[in-house]
Amino acid sequence: MAKNKLTRFREINSFPNVIQPHDKYPVPDYFLKGKWAGGHFGNSFPVILELGCGKGEYTLELARNNPQKNFIGIDIKGERLWRGAKTAMEEGLPNVAFLRIQAERINHFFAPGEVSGIWLTFPDPQPRKPRQRKRLTSPAFLERYGKILTRKSPIHLKTDNRDLFEYTLQVIRQNKHRLLVHTYNLYGEESQIYEPLVKEIQTYYEKIYLAQDLPIHYLKFVLNPEMI
Ligand SMILES: C[S@@+](CC[C@H](N)C(=O)[O-])C[C@H]1O[C@@H](n2cnc3c(N)ncnc32)[C@H](O)[C@@H]1O
Repeated sequence: MAKNKLTRFREINSFPNVIQPHDKYPVPDYFLKGKWAGGHFGNSFPVILELGCGKGEYTLELARNNPQKNFIGIDIKGERLWRGAKTAMEEGLPNVAFLRIQAERINHFFAPGEVSGIWLTFPDPQPRKPRQRKRLTSPAFLERYGKILTRKSPIHLKTDNRDLFEYTLQVIRQNKHRLLVHTYNLYGEESQIYEPLVKEIQTYYEKIYLAQDLPIHYLKFVLNPEMI
């Protein structure tokens, strides 16, 4: 393992804003489930998640702009989380945490109604059919989100992958979720998207795709209330 990587792995273990549960399947559920705001952040603010956050650009910038909300970036890769967590500590951002888990496990970590929004920023597209359930916008994942979101909480998706985008639009339509806005080209002239911070924050992967002149797709929806 490269020396830099080793140092980061050692360092991240001592970061107070990174939670890395070691047990694979917490039974009973993780002790902060239902208590993140008071138990971890020491406030009563709403909690917003970024899934597959990588280095956490959205988590950080949303937190800087919304001091009255808590933001938790979730990813499985510790080295990427190290970057976001280090920045949050350097800036003294009290409303940021990073959770190193598989997104599949979120229902062990968050209680019904505990989460007020979810950002999916350039998730892996999982193009092969047998892996459809692994897509972060598959019905299986939306069911997990329905168990933790408050009613009318938005789910945002940003992606360069047209197949994943169209797949998501189809899942929304077929399951009667409510699509609020969508665009195939967020930065195109015809884009009518005025969501706060959707254009202003660009993630690590987003910058790579933009440098290749790829259009960025964006949508926002709320779950069918029957699922919540
Ligand atoms: C293409 S990268 C995007 C990272 C970041 N959001 C960005 O836009 O720069 C996808 C990220 O999702 C994470 N990821 C993939 N599947 C995951 C899962 N099931 N649970 C948690 N993280 C996952 C990967 O580790 C990776 O950091």
